[in-house]
Amino acid sequence: MTSTAEIPEYPMARAKGCPFDPPPALQAKQAEGPLTKVRLWDGSTPWMVTRYAEQRALLADPRVSSDITRPGYPSPTPLNGAAPISFILMDDPEHARLRRMVTAPFTIKRVEAMRPAVQKIVDDLIDEMLAGPKPVDLVTAFALPVPSLVICELLGVPYADHDFFQDNSKVLINRDAAPEQRMAAVGRLNVYLNDLLGEKLANPGDDLLSGLTEVIRTGELSQHDAAGIGVLLLIAGHETTANMIALGTLALLENPDQLALLRDTADPKLVSSAVEELLRYLHITHNGRRRLALEDIELDGQIIRAGDGMIMANDIGNRDPDAFPDPDRLDIQRDARHHVAFGFGVHQCLGQPLARMELQVVYSRLYKRIPTLRLAADLEEIPFKHDGSVYGVYSLPVTW
Ligand code: HEM
Repeated sequence: MTSTAEIPEYPMARAKGCPFDPPPALQAKQAEGPLTKVRLWDGSTPWMVTRYAEQRALLADPRVSSDITRPGYPSPTPLNGAAPISFILMDDPEHARLRRMVTAPFTIKRVEAMRPAVQKIVDDLIDEMLAGPKPVDLVTAFALPVPSLVICELLGVPYADHDFFQDNSKVLINRDAAPEQRMAAVGRLNVYLNDLLGEKLANPGDDLLSGLTEVIRTGELSQHDAAGIGVLLLIAGHETTANMIALGTLALLENPDQLALLRDTADPKLVSSAVEELLRYLHITHNGRRRLALEDIELDGQIIRAGDGMIMANDIGNRDPDAFPDPDRLDIQRDARHHVAFGFGVHQCLGQPLARMELQVVYSRLYKRIPTLRLAADLEEIPFKHDGSVYGVYSLPVTW
């Protein structure tokens, strides 16, 4: 067991020049065993679960809680407990009750019905890029607008407000933002969603938020909780996918053999396998799945005590050689479908069919329509999101 003095700080730094690989210190911990300890910003020392099999077992274990308001929860930042973001940070049965109210639009069938509209959004944005000046920042011109337009359409949020919600969600997922700034950003988003729900109560449309007004009317859901769900879906719906588009493009540009395979294929199965492999390889939600033990749990000859915090480091879980042979190689032809980039267990990503479809459309269109796409800066000049709970790039200058 590691002595107190040796417990490393978490999050850990990535190696210079290796923007796609998890921190080497974390990978070294994984090689030592499935369970270790780390030190957080508040001095607490939760367990760190490093290996794929143990991470999945614990994420599916009913003795494990996601409730951020419980003492001992390993919060990534101060004051998180005072600003819980809807059901992602709750336990069943309340988590399941709220999640059930918004599952229907995310089923594979409903998402597939949206594919032609997403293809149009993607093609229109590529047309605009091709008609405009170059170099261009792929994040602002393409990676951010694609999922933002899609989630706005699905929720019934006016896209004209995108600067407002993108600015606030940027603060919310920035680990280095002051607690007061984060609280203010959640507050503004809640007020915005609450007002929008008020309008939809008076004048419902054919969108997810209007659907929620029906359960507000029956008294099954308060307007306050509905606004919280809206904030969760709005943030989760665009931040993650946007980072996968930009960082995925950068990873492919840095692996030209893989980019050529993807660009030259007409096989939707290879496109889909590329999406899964990039999700595994990049694992953008690299802050770990944060949990708390409700009972004593034995693992690898040690006891995780009731009340102990746990972090499942899914980024290195996705690089576990026992689950993925030669894990540090990007190989779009491998079967990576069992990755944990969308988490595992009851909190597994609700939006994954939508994210998968958006990424399949993007990865099958962008490189075919702009075959000479290339970086317009050195890799060392690209600003990576080392300070965010979602990893990616702040900007990506490209040309063709
Ligand atoms: C590539 C894109 C995405 C990635 C990598 C991703 C990743 C994740 C992960 C890892 C979790 C599990 C959190 C945990 O267990 O603590 C999660 C949950 C969630 N995601 Fe996603 N996500 C993506 C896209 C989306 C989209 C497009 C939506 C749609 C609105 C969405 C909505 C949600 C929601 C609502 C939850 C909470 C589920 C629950 O607690 O039951 N995500 N996501």
